[in-house]
Amino acid sequence: MLKLPGLIDPHVHVREPGQTHKEDWDTVTQAALAGGVTMILAMPNTKPPIFNASTLDLALDSAKRKARCDYAQFLGAGPDNADAAAALAPRAAGLKMYLDSTFGELRLDDMTLWMPHFQKFPKDYPIVLHSESRTMAAGILFAALYDRPVHIAHVSLKEEILLIKAAKERGVKVTCEVCPHHLFLPSPPSPLPPGEGRRGEGRLTVRPRLATQQDVDALWDNLDVIDCFATDHAPHTLAEKDSDNPPPGFPGLETLLPLLLTAVALRRLTLDDLIQKCVINPRKIFNLPEQPETWVEVDETAEYEIRAADQFTRCGWTPFEGWKIKGKVRKVVLRGRTAFEDGKVLAEQGYGRNVRL
Ligand code: DOR
Ligand code: ZN
Repeated sequence: MLKLPGLIDPHVHVREPGQTHKEDWDTVTQAALAGGVTMILAMPNTKPPIFNASTLDLALDSAKRKARCDYAQFLGAGPDNADAAAALAPRAAGLKMYLDSTFGELRLDDMTLWMPHFQKFPKDYPIVLHSESRTMAAGILFAALYDRPVHIAHVSLKEEILLIKAAKERGVKVTCEVCPHHLFLPSPPSPLPPGEGRRGEGRLTVRPRLATQQDVDALWDNLDVIDCFATDHAPHTLAEKDSDNPPPGFPGLETLLPLLLTAVALRRLTLDDLIQKCVINPRKIFNLPEQPETWVEVDETAEYEIRAADQFTRCGWTPFEGWKIKGKVRKVVLRGRTAFEDGKVLAEQGYGRNVRL
């Protein structure tokens, strides 16, 4: 049995408030614990989005009642909330800025709307950028101009990881995360056939898109540039994914650690890489407290297939259905109490703590 520290996932879409048919604070934290994740940072693109004191309270009230693992909640950057967001910074995981098209209402198209956030948000709390390709280059320029740390969410392209590498080498305060789906799922050859192909298409829809094998290889070739692994757990129901207008996003909390452990077994990754990128670096970047008496027991030798039917997420599917993997979470201890064991979540609703209190 292998013992690991509790994992931190800095990128989770909880869906509460507003879309609890997809997920809520109860089911998402069950999924987290089942995946060996003991702390999640929640994204603000809920309904309503989290962008001021009253919406922050709305999310945190639900979390307080229902969360089974530890958490903090991001604020979203809007066109006119820079003062409010800066004032709320100590109560939040950080500020999330959507610089590219995404699911939900938070989006800042015009660079004049970025400026007040970069000016005002305290430098000891991270700004996380949803930014792709050239928008990412603009975001990194902002980090340099305003001399403040930014964290780039879900890097997926070769040009992006190379740009971040170059920026780090020149001392720009930039860190980044990569999602398992961008490491393990290259885009399928297109176009997909009609009929069943459409269904497959919806289930492969995610932002940023799945990238080419060359992009995937570039991520693996630049592991040392990747600060964190993050799931971007973005649950939508199977009916939604198979509809004519499928929303982007994959669930990921329950497959993160098994996929990474399989990569360790295949010697694509070391256990030390895994701990650095899933525990040590996110703690440092997001200024998170240590969780005392918290660990994950893993059976490294267990071989099995990923099944949506075994998962706790409410969305009811996984893009990794049927994948053969090696490494199973047996037990999770969170702050001295067994929170998950042998397939059962034991931590009650409300056991999770807001780490920003
Ligand atoms: O695939 C995605 N899903 N990308 C995003 O940026 C948002 C997310 C969601 O909330 O569903
Ligand atoms: Zn996201």
